[in-house]
Amino acid sequence: MTVTFEMNGSKDTEYTVQDVRNLNDFLLAKPTAEDLRGKPYDLDNDGVWSVFDLCLMKRRILEQRNMTTEFDFENKTVLLNSGYEMPILGLGTWTQDDDTAENSVYEALKDGYRLIDTAQYYGNETGVGNGIQRAIDDGIVTREEVFVTTKVMPSNYDRAYSSIDDSLERLGLDYIDLMLIHQSGSNDTEVYKALCQGVRDGKLRSIGISNYYTLDEYERVTSGGEIKPAVVQNENHPFYQNTEFQKDIAKYGTVVESWYPFGGRGHTQDLFGNETITDIAKAHGKTSAQIILRWHLQAGYVTIPGSQNPDHILENYSIFDFELTDTEMQRMAELHTGQRYENW
Ligand SMILES: NC(=O)c1ccc[n+]([C@@H]2O[C@H](COP(=O)([O-])OP(=O)(O)OC[C@H]3O[C@@H](n4cnc5c(N)ncnc54)[C@H](OP(=O)(O)O)[C@@H]3O)[C@@H](O)[C@H]2O)c1
Repeated sequence: MTVTFEMNGSKDTEYTVQDVRNLNDFLLAKPTAEDLRGKPYDLDNDGVWSVFDLCLMKRRILEQRNMTTEFDFENKTVLLNSGYEMPILGLGTWTQDDDTAENSVYEALKDGYRLIDTAQYYGNETGVGNGIQRAIDDGIVTREEVFVTTKVMPSNYDRAYSSIDDSLERLGLDYIDLMLIHQSGSNDTEVYKALCQGVRDGKLRSIGISNYYTLDEYERVTSGGEIKPAVVQNENHPFYQNTEFQKDIAKYGTVVESWYPFGGRGHTQDLFGNETITDIAKAHGKTSAQIILRWHLQAGYVTIPGSQNPDHILENYSIFDFELTDTEMQRMAELHTGQRYENW
C-alpha cells in the first residue's frame, strides 16, 4: 500500500507500510544526527529522533489512509494509530495464577502467538513475564517480537504513573507495548493523562482504554490527553457486537479488541453449541471455537481467547488456514442479541 503525506509543510513524499517497518529498524539502531542528514524521513526535528517522532510519522501515514485499520492477515497484525503493529490474535490470562500464566504464555509463544494480555488486577504479571523470558531464553522469540498488554488496576488510579514502573518490574520488561485503563473510575481522565506521560517517557508504546462502550465515554476519558487510544478492549462476542461504536472510533484509528470472545468461563457452551456456529464449523471441518475466533478477526476485532489448556491454546491459533464466506459472516452478524455477560 502506498501513501502520501506532506513533509515539513512543503513537499509530498510517498511512503509504504514497508518503509515504516524499515524505519523501525533504523531508529532502533539509535541513529546519530550525522546518520540522519539528508534522509527522506527528516521531520525537521533538529536531528534529534525519538520514538515519539516515529509515532507521529506513522500516525500521519494512517491519516493519509483515512485512519483505516485493516488487518494484515499475512503478517497477522494491524498497524495501530500509535504507529506500532499489534498482533491480531493473542492469549488472555485472566484467572491464571503466576505459575499457570507462565506455562500458558510459554506454550502460546511456542505455538506462534505474539500477543499476551494481562492486567495488574490479574496478579499474574510476574508469571507472564517469566513465561516470556523463558521463551526468549529458549530462542523461541525476541522481546521485540512479543506484544504485551497490561492494564492499570482501579485501586491504583491515584498512583497510575508509578504503577507503570511496578508493572514493568513485575513483567521484567523495559517497556510495555500497550497499557489500558482497566475500567472507568472517578479520576480516569487523570489516569489517561498519566498513560500519555508514560508514552512520552518511553515506558509505554501504545495506550488505550477498556470497558468504555460509547463515543461520549471515549471522548470524556481521553479529553485531557494528546494521544488518541490505539485500542479499546471491551466485551465483544457473537451475541454482543458493538458495531456502531467500532465505526465511531475507527475515525480515530482506534481498534476494538474483544474480551470474552467465547462469552467467558461458564458461558462458552452458549456459543459453542449455537446452531449457526456448529453448522459453519461443520462446513469448514473446524471447531466452534475456531469459527468464533475467525469471525472476530474478519469482523475487524483483535481478540485474546483465554486458555490454560495447551490443546486449546494451539487450537485457537489454528485459524489462519480458512476463511468465512460473506454469507457466513452475515449469519454470524445475525447472532447479535445485545446480550452481555458482565456489566463492568
Ligand atoms: N478488560 C477487561 O475487563 C477484561 C475482562 C475479561 C477478560 N479480559 C481478557 O480477555 C481474555 C479472554 O476472556 P476470558 O478468558 O475471560 O474468556 P473467554 O476467552 O471467552 O473464555 C475462556 C474460557 O474458554 C475456554 N476455552 C478456551 N479455548 C477453548 C477451546 N478451544 N475449546 C473449549 N474451551 C476453550 C477456557 O478454558 P481452558 O482454559 O480450559 O481452555 C475458558 O474456560 C481474558 O483472559 C483476559 O485477558 C479482559
